[in-house]
Amino acid sequence: TVASLVERGGVQIARDDVVRDEPTNNIPDTIFTKLGMQLHRRNQHPIGILKNAIYDYFDTNYENKFVKFDDLCPIVSVKENFDDVLVPPDHVSRSYNDTYYIDPQTVLRCHTSAHQAEILSRGHRHFLVTGDVYRRDSIDSTHYPVFHQMEGVCVFSPEDWESSGKDGTAYAAEDLKKCLEGLARHLFGAVEMRWIDTYFPFTDPSFELEIYFKEKWLEVLGCGVTEQEILKRSGNSDNVAWAFGLGLERLAMVLFDIPDIRLFWSSDERFTSQFWEGQLGIKFKAFSKYPPCYKDMSFWINESFTENNLCEVIRGIAGDLVEEVTLIDNFTNKKGMTSHCYRIAYRSMERSLTDDEINDLQWNVREQVQSKLNVVLR
Ligand code: PHE
Repeated sequence: TVASLVERGGVQIARDDVVRDEPTNNIPDTIFTKLGMQLHRRNQHPIGILKNAIYDYFDTNYENKFVKFDDLCPIVSVKENFDDVLVPPDHVSRSYNDTYYIDPQTVLRCHTSAHQAEILSRGHRHFLVTGDVYRRDSIDSTHYPVFHQMEGVCVFSPEDWESSGKDGTAYAAEDLKKCLEGLARHLFGAVEMRWIDTYFPFTDPSFELEIYFKEKWLEVLGCGVTEQEILKRSGNSDNVAWAFGLGLERLAMVLFDIPDIRLFWSSDERFTSQFWEGQLGIKFKAFSKYPPCYKDMSFWINESFTENNLCEVIRGIAGDLVEEVTLIDNFTNKKGMTSHCYRIAYRSMERSLTDDEINDLQWNVREQVQSKLNVVLR
């Protein structure tokens, strides 16, 4: 059978992808309660400390030219989040599976790029936008449905590049790379870096910057030369611009040695008391490592099953007590039925969990996975 489709925000989605009762709103309470927390505006919080360190870099190197926004509402229109930055109508990021919709025209921004077009139209030519962004995703120690990004945009006029002998695009691309390599050195000291060609709907060419840290290449930001269409619409027809968007948690986990992304949301003093305003790179000392507890569950999936929906249900019950959800087995039988087995790791950052507590959580998870996702437990 074909899953029934409904249209939301201009996209076709499976009716079953909508986890919540209200068919046009897929935002659970665990997410709503994060609105307004503004970790990036706390000067003693690692996210705020990092934001301020990046501000310092731009203030010093660009004579305070960059105007800063860090208080823009995370509730934006579909137009701002997607259309204005040229995200195609059928792009996956628009789906109810990937983005939190308040109603068919309104989302929780999934990137700070949602503010580019408006700020450009207001005439700004150099700006930084910091804020909380929201994405439906799977669960592990580096992914959380709310995180923070900083967007940077810099516009050039013909006189900026004409004397360089380059065209505007080449000039902006070079300036962009120089700026971001400088930022990476400002934050990390002497690090190995590499540029990867990539694709974003709003930039061309587009790049990712990776830095080599603890024996791994780590993607820290996306960037590129702004699509001319965006500039044209904002009254910048003759100009050229670059833009970047960087994930603050990613960088902060490395800079402060924070092992799990859930810790940023902890109000436990043993976490919050370790950081000081203006002190980038204090190494976090884990107060204790409580043991994880693993529970497996297997079920026959249906056509509309997605891992993001599963994770949302689990998070709705276990909150920040769930550390990781991993697919450990996947097979299709002769009748064409597909079975998934997921391993759920429960672990508190702050205390030991009791067996009773975990069994309770797991019982609820099994119940709700069955009833909300319409899968058949095995
Ligand atoms: N918005 C992109 C993301 O969230 C990052 C980005 C910003 C890329 C600006 C290019 C230019 O992944």
